[in-house]
Amino acid sequence: MNARAKKTNAKELSRQKRKFQNFEIYSYEEVSSTNDVAKEIAGDTSQEKMVIVAETQTFGKGRLGRRWISPLGGLWFSVILRPKILPEDATQLTFIMASTVAETISQMFGLKTEIKWPNDVLVEGRKICGILSETNTKKRDVEYVIVGVGINANVDLESFGCNLRDNATSLKFELGHKIKRKVFLRRLLESFDLRYQRLQRGQWRSLLQEWKKLASFLGKQVEVTSFDEISVGVAYDVDENGALKLKLENGATKKIMVGDVTLREKS
Ligand code: BTN
Repeated sequence: MNARAKKTNAKELSRQKRKFQNFEIYSYEEVSSTNDVAKEIAGDTSQEKMVIVAETQTFGKGRLGRRWISPLGGLWFSVILRPKILPEDATQLTFIMASTVAETISQMFGLKTEIKWPNDVLVEGRKICGILSETNTKKRDVEYVIVGVGINANVDLESFGCNLRDNATSLKFELGHKIKRKVFLRRLLESFDLRYQRLQRGQWRSLLQEWKKLASFLGKQVEVTSFDEISVGVAYDVDENGALKLKLENGATKKIMVGDVTLREKS
């Protein structure tokens, strides 16, 4: 085990870091959470575009404090970034990662993908990818952002509990065969990097427009659970801060920053 792995007790698969374009990829057999390993590494270096990949996570983290089930066969990874942006804009990275995953899945595997706010990627209405970004700030500056991505790649749906199985899917299930995860990861990183460079050049608006084209829930009747509150209405837009704009049944409008969306009608 090397120094990078010691705090999270990660079992390192390959000591040799692989280089791919601007990225350095570190592969682990098992970690608690690739986001946590990435945070430790980010605290020890000033580098960015380091990628932590693990075969399994014993304590995968999901949004809103949930657990993320991470069996063998999935693609569980986290990217360390040091963008020159304001802390409140760090959510833009999650958006460009969601567009990247949705587009890459449809281009590589011919599956129709969609994004559900905030950043779930769905195939056939079921979740195939979730993204959890964590930001570390120093005063008013972003020190680093960890963008953690969980993709149900070669995962058997039986690995999930009954509740999850109804709402989740995997590439293996949809395609009827396994995919080459290494090739897939490289395509994702390549495509993400192009978007990341555009973001750094100030192109957030056009990146958000691309995201909206994949966001098929827009214009539909939805139910949004935000903390303990449930709101029902038409999801008519997502603003530049990533907030969901709802037109409520009484005609009023409402902006929601955090929550979960459920479609109320079939498309
Ligand atoms: C969600 O709840 O939809 C977000 C799930 C994010 C899961 C990924 S798997 C890789 C990275 N490490 C974690 O612990 N979580 C993210």
